Amino acid sequence: MSIYILGIESSCDDTSAAVLHDTRILSNVIANQDIHKTYGGVVPELASRAHQQNIVPVVDVALSKAKITKNQLNAIAFTRGPGLLGSLLVGTSFAKSFAMGLGIPIIEVDHLKAHILSHFIEDYDTAGHPGFPFLCLTVSGGHTQIVRVNSPSDMHVIGTTIDDAAGEAFDKAAKIMGLPYPGGPQIDKLAEVGNPDAFSFPEPRIKGLDYSFSGLKTSFLYFLRDRLKEDEAFIEKNKADLSASLQRTIIHILIKKLKKAIEETGIHEVAIAGGVSANSGLRKAMQQLASETESKVYVPKLQYSTDNAAMIAIAGYFKYLDKDFALQNITPYSKSRL
Ligand code: KG4
Ligand code: ZN
Repeated sequence: MSIYILGIESSCDDTSAAVLHDTRILSNVIANQDIHKTYGGVVPELASRAHQQNIVPVVDVALSKAKITKNQLNAIAFTRGPGLLGSLLVGTSFAKSFAMGLGIPIIEVDHLKAHILSHFIEDYDTAGHPGFPFLCLTVSGGHTQIVRVNSPSDMHVIGTTIDDAAGEAFDKAAKIMGLPYPGGPQIDKLAEVGNPDAFSFPEPRIKGLDYSFSGLKTSFLYFLRDRLKEDEAFIEKNKADLSASLQRTIIHILIKKLKKAIEETGIHEVAIAGGVSANSGLRKAMQQLASETESKVYVPKLQYSTDNAAMIAIAGYFKYLDKDFALQNITPYSKSRL
């Protein structure tokens, strides 16, 4: 096959476009939106305005970096959901009109499935991808799921969070400590020089393979409130230890259920995906999980962990093979359909 797919991602605050030649990456361009740092979180209206400004130049750069012209494209894949509706509308409308102008099909992609399928993007140094069926722990800013992946089109959620996502726990705890948004990478960096055993936080007791992170956030908040009464500079003095201890707790919660999922399903091909899979502690914990459970683990490259359009293009590629195209009257959705 020789298929060129343009992927478009605009579900949150990153505008991204990527070109794939079959499964091989040719370009992956991401425009971040710094404006949200001022507000300590993503402001939906500002995000959609920035997407409108960014989308044309980002696609233009993606095509020129891929060294192809728009006329060589076979299809355009775009994120249909879940995400912020105003943001998704920009990518969806762009994909529809660009494809109509070129006379090529559009392919709707689910953002969470795309995170999982990012493992199939072929880069210059790709070592290999998980074999089916595999388990994938998808950990992002809005979702925390354990998914049984039977094929690119057959996925089942076998565990999910009943409240906050793991990324939210990182971001909210960081906000409590006065760290800039997004807090996950900040905590990761501070944790490198902190003591993970300095403080301990309670872990939830949730049935089956489900998760919960809202209790951890609340206990972190109350813990700091009490310590600050005794010492105003408590956070400043203990930032690294607090980060390392919190990160260790989140990772422990994540890995415990993933281990349970391996035992219950007997599946020993195990992947992680989504923004939090960029976390260095979680990456290390996956290596340990591999030896403890005799599993083969797959960790995405950093540029394919956080939001990117290459993962949308690879998900689009699999649907292209099935001739699974979308109609021009398609509309985005905000909530997960996985
Ligand atoms: O997948 P993603 O880029 O966007 C969503 O689909 O939500 O994930 C974003 C989340 C944010 O919560 C961010 O703080 C977290 O991923 N994140 C990290 C790291 N890098 C990004 N969390 C912990 N450690 C990191 N290194
Ligand atoms: Zn994402």
